[in-house]
Amino acid sequence: MTGQNSATASDYVFDNDGDHSSDQHHYLARLLDPLTFERLALTGVGPGWDCLEVGAGGGSVALWLAERVTPGGRVLATDIKPGLIPSRPGLTVARHDIVTDPLPEGAFDLIHARLVLSHLPRRREVLRRLRAALRPGGWLQLDEIDITRWVAPPPSGGPGEEVYAAYVKAMARVLGAAGSDPTWGGTAARDMAAAGLTDIDRTRWTEVWKRGSAGLGLLISNSHHLEGRLLEAGMTLGQLREVREVMSAPGFSAPSFEIHSILGRRGRDD
Ligand SMILES: C[S@@+](CC[C@H](N)C(=O)[O-])C[C@H]1O[C@@H](n2cnc3c(N)ncnc32)[C@H](O)[C@@H]1O
Repeated sequence: MTGQNSATASDYVFDNDGDHSSDQHHYLARLLDPLTFERLALTGVGPGWDCLEVGAGGGSVALWLAERVTPGGRVLATDIKPGLIPSRPGLTVARHDIVTDPLPEGAFDLIHARLVLSHLPRRREVLRRLRAALRPGGWLQLDEIDITRWVAPPPSGGPGEEVYAAYVKAMARVLGAAGSDPTWGGTAARDMAAAGLTDIDRTRWTEVWKRGSAGLGLLISNSHHLEGRLLEAGMTLGQLREVREVMSAPGFSAPSFEIHSILGRRGRDD
């Protein structure tokens, strides 16, 4: 699996080789690993399992899986830009585009992807490829975002509400312009069933973000990472500075976006 970067790579809004990429993955891991690990544990993943981590980013989930499947198992961690995935015995890292590069069929006991398919316009096609890559009875876990309620929260009357709302809406425009669907988490379970996965089990995660939280850390980091695109989407530099101050201020709090964690299986006779 040494596929070349393709058009898909250039459409993806973030990157893994910029000044803010490590920060992004640090905050994603802090924010979401507890949920991801709790859900993955429900599959019974353990020694001897063959796992695929798609769009592994900073590699925290791949590392966790590599510990769990020892001895005898293996984890393949892929990404279009795999440079931030650490190496470790039992963990194979590969540059691979999940949309266009070949994927072995019937090869994995467990496949996981977090915040990857929502970025891919061809996500339903990718879902069918992932199902085919599972062994009969194998598990697919997707952890995906839905910003529907986050973009239109009830007014809180709190300080900084206006500029924060402008920032959230600009982020939604930036993601949409690049072909992402940041509401897909809400309907991903339906698409998994349509792709032929069974035993669908879904949970919805939210929390409240306060100063110093991983969630606000991620948003501050994103405001730097995507600054150029946010300016193109209508924000001013002054607003970006202001929203960073607002999110760093004592007393600021805001509801998080939603993450939907969805498990499904390839049928045993499939
Ligand atoms: C938002 S990050 C999430 C990273 C990691 N899954 C996590 O949740 O911590 C999305 C990741 O998907 C990768 N990615 C984007 N498009 C991809 C593609 N077509 N094939 C494989 N990986 C892709 C990106 O390079 C990035 O590392």
